[in-house]
Amino acid sequence: MGLEAESRALAIAALVERPPVDLLRAPLDYIFADHFRQRSLCRILADLAEQAELDHAMASAALDFLRNDFGLHVVDEEKDLFPLLRKRRQRQDRIGDILGRLGAEHAADAIEAEQIVAALAGALEAAPAPLSGAARALMAGFAANERRHLTAENAIVLPLARARLTCGDLDILGRHMAERRGLAYPEGTDAV
Ligand SMILES: [Fe+2]
Ligand SMILES: [Fe+2]
Repeated sequence: MGLEAESRALAIAALVERPPVDLLRAPLDYIFADHFRQRSLCRILADLAEQAELDHAMASAALDFLRNDFGLHVVDEEKDLFPLLRKRRQRQDRIGDILGRLGAEHAADAIEAEQIVAALAGALEAAPAPLSGAARALMAGFAANERRHLTAENAIVLPLARARLTCGDLDILGRHMAERRGLAYPEGTDAV
């Protein structure tokens, strides 16, 4: 396998593998792991946007992730993480504007993600139909925006959440994330 093919295979593996269930007891780490998967999604979408011929394995992995996982993560943030952070923030944190901007990006991303799903599903079904120029531009733009979004969340939101959220908050966050995924919450007394 060449270097390029190997790196593509690694990106696909990183994308399809969900974080271990036990990590729900450290829900901010679970969110961080989901961000790593999203970086792989960005890499894959940016690659697909450049390819002359559609790489089916990459397109299928991106399609599955966008259909099944991407939305769950956004709901984790919108319904649990951001509201908890708004509740616990201190006056000097100045996080309100950033959370507002990230929330607006979630709404825009959801619309674009749906369009990308339609484009990828169509291209896979009608193989070897290439992606349209508009679909390529959409995917490249989504990947670039999402990378900026992830950087802000990893650099600002998650560190502040680690500082401000209480043990009770983290417990609620992890339990809601488990419920959202149809998973049993990993009960236990040991710290993860
Ligand atoms: Fe996120
Ligand atoms: Fe987000």
